[in-house]
Amino acid sequence: MFSLKSKVALVTGAGRGIGRAVAQQLAAAGAAVMVNDLDADTLEEGAAQYAGDLTDPAFPQRLVDRTVAELGGLDIIVNNAGYTWDNIIQKTTDEQFQAMLDIHIVAPFRILRAASGYIRETAKREAAEGRRVNRKVVNITSISATDGGPGQAGYSSGKAAVIGLTRTMAKEWGRYNVNVNAVGFGLIETRLIQPLTAESKIEVKGREIRVGVQQAMLDKVAAASPLGRAGTVEEAAGAVLFFCSPLSDFVTGEVLICSGGMHF
Ligand SMILES: NC(=O)c1ccc[n+]([C@@H]2O[C@H](COP(=O)([O-])OP(=O)(O)OC[C@H]3O[C@@H](n4cnc5c(N)ncnc54)[C@H](O)[C@@H]3O)[C@@H](O)[C@H]2O)c1
Repeated sequence: MFSLKSKVALVTGAGRGIGRAVAQQLAAAGAAVMVNDLDADTLEEGAAQYAGDLTDPAFPQRLVDRTVAELGGLDIIVNNAGYTWDNIIQKTTDEQFQAMLDIHIVAPFRILRAASGYIRETAKREAAEGRRVNRKVVNITSISATDGGPGQAGYSSGKAAVIGLTRTMAKEWGRYNVNVNAVGFGLIETRLIQPLTAESKIEVKGREIRVGVQQAMLDKVAAASPLGRAGTVEEAAGAVLFFCSPLSDFVTGEVLICSGGMHF
């Protein structure tokens, strides 16, 4: 029904989970994909890849420049990298709150600012040639942003901020034919929603961070959800693919909730 052949995509946090599935689906649709992750060993061999930390202020520009230099353009950006670092507000440190803003809003802002020169110049050239080429930005958010998530003051703030960035960029970049949208997930089966135990931890930048959701909460949420279950990473990627494809050429500034109908 559509092909992304000749399109170049950049997916952040694509080493595992949802980002990995998004990169695979974009590649299956014909796009050339640059994958990034903090953890170099998670990135698929053979793929165009650039491992590195998106919260390093200089890294987003290097990642964008490398994508354009190596793959010859930039048509689709998926700001996906992220993680949870939860606690109730009185136990949330400044470092913890700031880390959630750094990865969920500052990094996407820097990626889009880094891409702005290429996008403006390319779109102006295409317009002069009488061509309209749609480009795509998909920012990943969460029902924690739209509904609020207890224990997630930092995470929900960062994920809510990215909706503001999405709507603003839809307005700034409409003239360049860039569709800028967000997908907000409910529970998707990745390491972030593993059943909470003493061992359910991830390592991010040398910090050991407790992640996961209490089993009782997982059961309750699944039971309260219209579709009665958490989603798979492939299902999550499907919603992102819609916004990366020509099917969404007349949709911009929107937030699509992909949660099986579940709300907090
Ligand atoms: N799984 C869910 O239920 C769920 C729900 C709502 C939103 N989300 C969001 O979806 C996105 C993907 O999450 P996931 O569930 O696939 O998690 P995941 O942990 O499986 O994958 C996220 C990837 O991002 C990478 N990453 C983290 N910090 C990074 C940094 N500074 N630089 C580069 N890469 C970095 C991680 O190494 C990891 O490989 C995140 O933005 C997350 O907040 C997930």
